[in-house]
Amino acid sequence: MKFIITNVFTIIITIIPSVNSYLHILTKMFSSRQPSKLLEFPKLNYKELTEQNKYDLQWYVIGKKTDFLTNKPKKVRVWNRNYAVWKNENGSYIGFDDVCPHKAASLSAGKIVNNNIACPYHGYEFNDQGTLVNVPGICFQPSPIYDVSKYTVVEKNGWVYINTMIPSKNESVITSGEYIYEEPEIASNCSVVFLDMEYNCYSRILSENSLDIMHIAFVHSFGNAHHPNPIKEEPPKLVGPNHYKSTYYYESGEKSMVRKAFGVTNLKIENEFILPHTTIARVIFDDYVSTVMTFALPIGDNKSKLFVKTYRNFWENQLGDAITRNTMYNTMLEDKLVVEGIDRRFMDGKFNMKFDKLQNTYKSFYKRFIHKFDNDNDTSYPE
Ligand code: FES
Ligand SMILES: [Fe+2]
Repeated sequence: MKFIITNVFTIIITIIPSVNSYLHILTKMFSSRQPSKLLEFPKLNYKELTEQNKYDLQWYVIGKKTDFLTNKPKKVRVWNRNYAVWKNENGSYIGFDDVCPHKAASLSAGKIVNNNIACPYHGYEFNDQGTLVNVPGICFQPSPIYDVSKYTVVEKNGWVYINTMIPSKNESVITSGEYIYEEPEIASNCSVVFLDMEYNCYSRILSENSLDIMHIAFVHSFGNAHHPNPIKEEPPKLVGPNHYKSTYYYESGEKSMVRKAFGVTNLKIENEFILPHTTIARVIFDDYVSTVMTFALPIGDNKSKLFVKTYRNFWENQLGDAITRNTMYNTMLEDKLVVEGIDRRFMDGKFNMKFDKLQNTYKSFYKRFIHKFDNDNDTSYPE
């Protein structure tokens, strides 16, 4: 057994390319960060949210690029509401309410015919703007009440996003997806692995879990149970639009990949969130960077889907992909065991400790700008 493990590590270590190439990548990744630019991103005042601010806060990841086939509608669900989404032959995405305005059949079960979507119930056809253009066997006068609502859907860096807000006709709003954050790992061409998993819990629980440095030692096998707390922390600061970051200095766990394969003890962890649902955990050790980016899609009040991208600038080959996928999948299962047991009514807890700042910052913005239950302060059990 020992022989096999030694061999696996020998293979892994010999496939790591030279450190110099990583220095180049890292220089590219981090040289563009200008702390002096922080002042360009003032904190939002919820009383003064513009139509554009509100629109920007409603982009939701609904799948990976590879989940959408050309001319094949797919049903997606965000905040208890269904949407029919498909990719047309030009590679653009179309998103409609998944409710036919005639008698409410699910449009996502329909077919694409000549760039129109045909309802599976009576065959009415809507063009890519949502306008009713054909009713089999019947002549009709067009009217806006026949039309289906359309939403903006874009693909960015492997994820497909829908914006669930229809901007008011009187306001000019940028609907191109310009707000959607682009992680620096894209420019540095890091290797990436995509995963997703459904969880029976409220979406904010998942994002807060990704921003919780102290759970690592207890929930994850790679955590440091002897030294669970960071050696040093830089508290949350604003680094972009609705984007906050904390930095931690942490000692790697004895069973962590960082310690076992690289022999590195001291880590720097950059932990970030971008409203509404993006989190980043970037582990930096020696010249290497391993990044986990998540998006917690709220499907319903107690159902979410966690989309994950993991980037790395080492082990950039298929074996590296397989190891990363396996490690991340197990990590997600470890989290699942705990987060699905959290009762949403009590999730804010009764007190906070030193390293809870980042998740608390997220929580307060989330409640103000994204979502809050009507009975958020009511933690009594139902009769
Ligand atoms: S329900 Fe869609 S065409 Fe009648
Ligand atoms: Fe976790």
